[in-house]
Amino acid sequence: MFYLANDRYSQVIKALKYPDCRHIIAAIQYNSDTFEEKLKMSEIITNEYWINRWTEGKTFFHSEKRHTSLEKHLEKFIAGRKGIKIFFPLCGKTVDMKILADQGHYIVGVDVAEQAFKEFFADQNLEYTEEHLKNIDGKLFQAMDGRIKLYCMDFYLFTKEMESQFNAIWDHGSLVAINIIDRIKYSQLIKELMSSDCRYVISAMQYDESKYTGHPFYLSEKDLKDLYPNCTIEEFDEIDRSYLYKDYGLDNMMERMYLLQPETNSESI
Ligand SMILES: C[S@@+](CC[C@H](N)C(=O)[O-])C[C@H]1O[C@@H](n2cnc3c(N)ncnc32)[C@H](O)[C@@H]1O
Repeated sequence: MFYLANDRYSQVIKALKYPDCRHIIAAIQYNSDTFEEKLKMSEIITNEYWINRWTEGKTFFHSEKRHTSLEKHLEKFIAGRKGIKIFFPLCGKTVDMKILADQGHYIVGVDVAEQAFKEFFADQNLEYTEEHLKNIDGKLFQAMDGRIKLYCMDFYLFTKEMESQFNAIWDHGSLVAINIIDRIKYSQLIKELMSSDCRYVISAMQYDESKYTGHPFYLSEKDLKDLYPNCTIEEFDEIDRSYLYKDYGLDNMMERMYLLQPETNSESI
């Protein structure tokens, strides 16, 4: 079994215990045969890594164009709803935020890289305000028209209390970008942020894992079922991204798009 607590953590806990201390541990158990193998193989990526990529301009993952699935399948995501709240976890400076805001929706994004937000507002020619967050290390950037709010902070410090729940979530380059060890933590937060009518689109990168194991991390439909057991899952599109990943030693890289929705008879997501 994979041991999530590290040595330093357990030493501090031991030092805090009286001899008769009763210590209750909540253990999260992940129902996947391959999870431990994947953890062993994967590198650990830090927030500093991402901040440096943005400041050094190494952002080839960013596209100046709207995502093709959002264009082709907009109705799957919006489902005729007007002025809905849409969440973009690990948003970077994706142009889809501006496109959906222009359609009358309300956008909230989170990313750790301030450079991404400065570039977003400059590229989109939007005026914005900037303020420090209270009680959290981070900043809030807001477009003057009030339709786009971008939180510059560690995603795992974001809480439901900050913006309540969302009617839709666009997860492109997000779940596949985080460390595999953080997937459970990530999905737990996302589940808290999903309203009962939430339409959650995830873009999953799929390729030959024996040839490459870094990010974008491989994400299968089974992984999604394990992470979101109380959601229906529908694959609705696929895009061949092989041309972008030749230097990774991969001949084939598919981006598969999944729509997740809370099951109607489920009490909790
Ligand atoms: C591959 S990029 C994708 C950006 C965007 N979603 C897109 O599709 O263009 C991953 C993004 O996640 C951000 N990121 C990674 N770890 C994060 C964390 N723990 N908290 C907040 N942002 C994070 C990075 O700064 C980066 O912009």
